[in-house]
Amino acid sequence: MRKIAPLRINNIDELQKSNETLKRYIREKVNQLLSMMGTRPLDPAELDDSTLLDIDPIGIIADAFGQVLEHLEETNRKLINTKDQLQAVFETAGVCISIVDPDLRIISCNEKQRELLVSDLNEKEFVGRYCYEVYCGNDSPALYCPAIETIETGKPVFIREIKKKGRYFQIVTSPLKNRDGTLKGVVEVSIDVTEKKRAEEGMRQAEKLSAIGLLGAGVAHEINTPLGNILGYAKMLLKEQDLSDHHKEKLQVIVEQAKKGSEIIRGLLNFSRQSKPSLATISMNDMVNKVLLELSTQIERQGITTRKNLRPIPLVEADPLQIEQVLSNLVLNALHALARTPEGTIIVETQRTGAFVETRIVDNGPGISDTLLPLIFDPFFTTKPVGEGVGLGLSICSGIIRDHGGTIQAESDPRGKTVFSFLLPVRSP
Ligand SMILES: Nc1ncnc2c1ncn2[C@@H]1O[C@H](COP(=O)(O)OP(=O)(O)OP(=O)(O)O)[C@@H](O)[C@H]1O
Ligand SMILES: [Mg+2]
Repeated sequence: MRKIAPLRINNIDELQKSNETLKRYIREKVNQLLSMMGTRPLDPAELDDSTLLDIDPIGIIADAFGQVLEHLEETNRKLINTKDQLQAVFETAGVCISIVDPDLRIISCNEKQRELLVSDLNEKEFVGRYCYEVYCGNDSPALYCPAIETIETGKPVFIREIKKKGRYFQIVTSPLKNRDGTLKGVVEVSIDVTEKKRAEEGMRQAEKLSAIGLLGAGVAHEINTPLGNILGYAKMLLKEQDLSDHHKEKLQVIVEQAKKGSEIIRGLLNFSRQSKPSLATISMNDMVNKVLLELSTQIERQGITTRKNLRPIPLVEADPLQIEQVLSNLVLNALHALARTPEGTIIVETQRTGAFVETRIVDNGPGISDTLLPLIFDPFFTTKPVGEGVGLGLSICSGIIRDHGGTIQAESDPRGKTVFSFLLPVRSP
């Protein structure tokens, strides 16, 4: 601000001169303020001595200030209202919303995003961290990341399916721009489609299983009889006295191979059985104890640690033999997977999940890769060497659980953790 020297007046001329200076100063400042407020500037006539008081420029400015302030307060109120409404939509939307800056650092995210993808961190801990660390649990961005594409192209990107922390999402990313058009960040809206995908997969699986089941049942019947004959005749021949060792060995191979064939057929018939479960009231906690006891010799022989985390749960109505078969199939698979794991552990957990009892079998084996995971419930899918596994265990489990009105699923972290979990409906009162 310009400083005005104090007036020291010696004669009339000096008085007039300093008056003029003062008026010029007032006019300049008044006009400066009026133009800031969008009001017409004063012309010289309006600044002579007589009208200066009438016009009351300070009054005009004060009024203008008053109006501007009122306008500002009104705009502020509207802005706060709009912000509250947007915040409510942001927080209560049933979809995940996140905003990241152009370096992929989190600016903010809504409740749903926190619930599904942020795990235990509070806002102070995750804001400013890289989104791929917090949302995807990775050390670096994924090979294909829609947010990066939006940052590079400045355009929205839509992804039909992407997997994050074991769940599936549909994602749209849109650029968030400053007023000058430069990129401020990316808004990412994700819809959790995990349940929809599982339901679709379940239906596809059910269709596939019933087709294979029908075919399998027919073929198994046809093959069973000739296989039984081969086995029977080979055993009969083995009893002959005058057989050379060489022939006995060959016959032994025939017997073993025919037995293996019969086992496969039994599995196939089991898998394609048409029988409905014969229901009884059972406790899944008792069932877990029973199966682990039955398999205890094998578990100990392999040096595996087992832990049980059995919570108080309601009873279920299920076929005890079939559910036992499911549990032992899953534990046997885990045991097999842990064959080369130094400190192999199997945890069996039960808990109530809504209207279902959930049983989880967790192992710290080598895990299942993302490529193989969608295949493991397929009949005859196995990674075991020929002769060791038929690949029917999980498809039988899935058929049994489906017949009970439940669901079964697998999740695996290829770095070494596999979780099989199945849900059975709680017994109706
Ligand atoms: N806990 C597990 N950890 C890692 N891989 C597993 C696990 N459980 C199942 N698998 C994979 O799923 C495949 C299919 O399992 P499934 O029980 O259907 O057949 P299988 O065990 O190979 O043969 P079988 O008919 O004798 O059960 C297995 O071969 C294995 O690759
Ligand atoms: Mg198996």
